Amino acid sequence: MIAKTFFGLEEVLAEELKNIGADNIEPISRAVSFEGDLSTMYKANYLCYTAIRILKPIATFTVGNEDDLYNQIKKIVWWDYMDVNQTLAIDAVLSYSQITHSKFAALKSKDALVDAFRDKFGERPSVDPITPDLRINIHIFRENCTVSIDSSGSSLHKRGYRVAVDKAPINEVLAAGLIKLSGWDGSTHLIDPMCGSGTILIEAALQAFGIAAGYYRKDFGFKHWKDFDAELWKKIQDDALDNQKDFEHRIIGSDRSYKAINIAEENLKSAKLHKDIELRKSTLEDLTFPISEGVMITNPPYDERLDEEDIKGLYQMIGDQMKQKFQGFNAWILSGNLEVLKFVGLRPSRKIIMYNGAIECRFAKFEIYGGSKKGKYMNKDKSPE
Ligand SMILES: C[S@@+](CC[C@H](N)C(=O)[O-])C[C@H]1O[C@@H](n2cnc3c(N)ncnc32)[C@H](O)[C@@H]1O
Repeated sequence: MIAKTFFGLEEVLAEELKNIGADNIEPISRAVSFEGDLSTMYKANYLCYTAIRILKPIATFTVGNEDDLYNQIKKIVWWDYMDVNQTLAIDAVLSYSQITHSKFAALKSKDALVDAFRDKFGERPSVDPITPDLRINIHIFRENCTVSIDSSGSSLHKRGYRVAVDKAPINEVLAAGLIKLSGWDGSTHLIDPMCGSGTILIEAALQAFGIAAGYYRKDFGFKHWKDFDAELWKKIQDDALDNQKDFEHRIIGSDRSYKAINIAEENLKSAKLHKDIELRKSTLEDLTFPISEGVMITNPPYDERLDEEDIKGLYQMIGDQMKQKFQGFNAWILSGNLEVLKFVGLRPSRKIIMYNGAIECRFAKFEIYGGSKKGKYMNKDKSPE
């Protein structure tokens, strides 16, 4: 199978897949390939915080042109995977292929599938691009074509707890990945002082309490499959519930915007985590909080609409506040503006390249020493890149 993820999270996802018992795990670009049975597939969907979707390949062949594609797709025994009264959607991703348009490849594949049904049963299934019963993925690299069925259905970042969003919310899977990359394991406090809709806080709480990534989600693609094993699925959910754990530390979020805090509160309530996560409305400049060490993870605005002076001032302020308030913390900042991190004025001890959609980002770690090591944080950043 193929588990898709964000650039930069391949190793993290490989580790998650190892923990659920997958075999032959191999990180590839923006994805991890692995082997496993039905149970592994259900667990990958339900338990892996950093998977975007889990694809199950059903056919591989070579294609030179669109007629080859049509003929090969038509040969697949589609009625093993869906009934004629179910709906389908097909996506195609092409690179270095003679077929140049992915939409055209998807259309040709759909024609082949419906023609195969019509020839066999005299009827054809219909297309539903939004909520199909069977989502099919065609991947063509040069002449190599892999046809997969998508066991997730809609993207796994749609966890089911988010009821509202403020501006520029971070993707849930990316937020979960940042927490994993930071090494935070629930043994210290965690704070996001620019928490927006609260995504980083909620994803941290899911991991800390061992709440399954898919706990709030009602639907998965595999539930519509002909081989859906309801008993196995129930057992995986029950086992996950048994594996929930206590968490003794604090998760705190704040934001300068009332609107953002109200939205975060709604999301926390929807996830039933409002008693476990503390929210306050405050600017970072005015923020006081009752913890002296832990992990800070945040994604400040990096909006191109802010002019250079604003951006510079914002990141300078963040650096100043980190020095004053976050001694004893590992502070991590995700920014999609590669230039601005230098204005923080501290030397990052790590900088990880990430992509938030098409935007190249840096996830930078600042170790803010307190006590006897005080002063080290005064190092000026000499390496802006
Ligand atoms: C990119 S958004 C964060 C999105 C968030 N991670 C989420 O998932 O919704 C940046 C947030 O920083 C907040 N912010 C900007 N300047 C701030 C300041 N000086 N103090 C506190 N919050 C600030 C904004 O209100 C905004 O909600």
